Amino acid sequence: MEQSEFDPRARTREIQADFAARGDVFGWFEALYKESNGNNELIPWADLEPNKYFRAWAEAHGLKGNGRSALVVGCGLGDDARYLHDLGFKVTAFDISPSAIAWAKRLHADTDIVFETCNLFEPPAAWLAKTGPPATAGGTDKTGFDLVLEVYTIQPLPLAMRPQVIDAVAGFVAENGRLVVVTRGREDDVDPDELPWPLSRRDLSRFGENGLTELNFTEMPGDEDEPPRFVVEYRR
Ligand SMILES: C[S@@+](CC[C@H](N)C(=O)[O-])C[C@H]1O[C@@H](n2cnc3c(N)ncnc32)[C@H](O)[C@@H]1O
Repeated sequence: MEQSEFDPRARTREIQADFAARGDVFGWFEALYKESNGNNELIPWADLEPNKYFRAWAEAHGLKGNGRSALVVGCGLGDDARYLHDLGFKVTAFDISPSAIAWAKRLHADTDIVFETCNLFEPPAAWLAKTGPPATAGGTDKTGFDLVLEVYTIQPLPLAMRPQVIDAVAGFVAENGRLVVVTRGREDDVDPDELPWPLSRRDLSRFGENGLTELNFTEMPGDEDEPPRFVVEYRR
């Protein structure tokens, strides 16, 4: 196939379907990063820029880190992690793909961002928020992160596991911490047909069941025939 005919989105769906047919819902991410061999144009979401919808939201809300901790979920090549770093957050970022993490480390070697290869469902205990009363009166047993950022990691994972993915993301938000979710959006009564599967408000309501309160909900138009984007901020 000539390079000019190559469609990275179609190839991505092909790899995802191959792995899904073998019952592997996560393996295709590493396969795609590896196959791209350092060419980000072969990875549909990797434009080496912070997510433009998140950046618009952050600018509108005057987001500043002031040394607070942030965790970037499914960070890919780390451009959102870098954006938060530049806003003054102390950033940890993780992804299930070792190739993505190695690439992110190379791209952002001039920062102190902590990049880790990690499965969302098997995080270090220290990343998880302890909810409920402190273990000792006056004790500082706060864990989790002041800000958790999730950009496009829920939507490419199977709909059947969506509640578990949302529970896992929510688990990182410290007491009084914030979560920002950036996702393709859909109406509740529309069935998503092809990867990536957009989120509806009903899907997002699961964050509420995890003790998170919605602070603001922004809908932004997608490019051309793309679905709209939802940018939603929560507080624990
Ligand atoms: C659609 S990409 C988005 C990447 C990045 N957030 C961005 O917007 O450029 C989804 C990312 O989530 C990662 N991912 C998928 N499943 C994961 C899991 N279970 N744990 C951690 N990362 C995961 C993938 O490797 C991939 O980098």
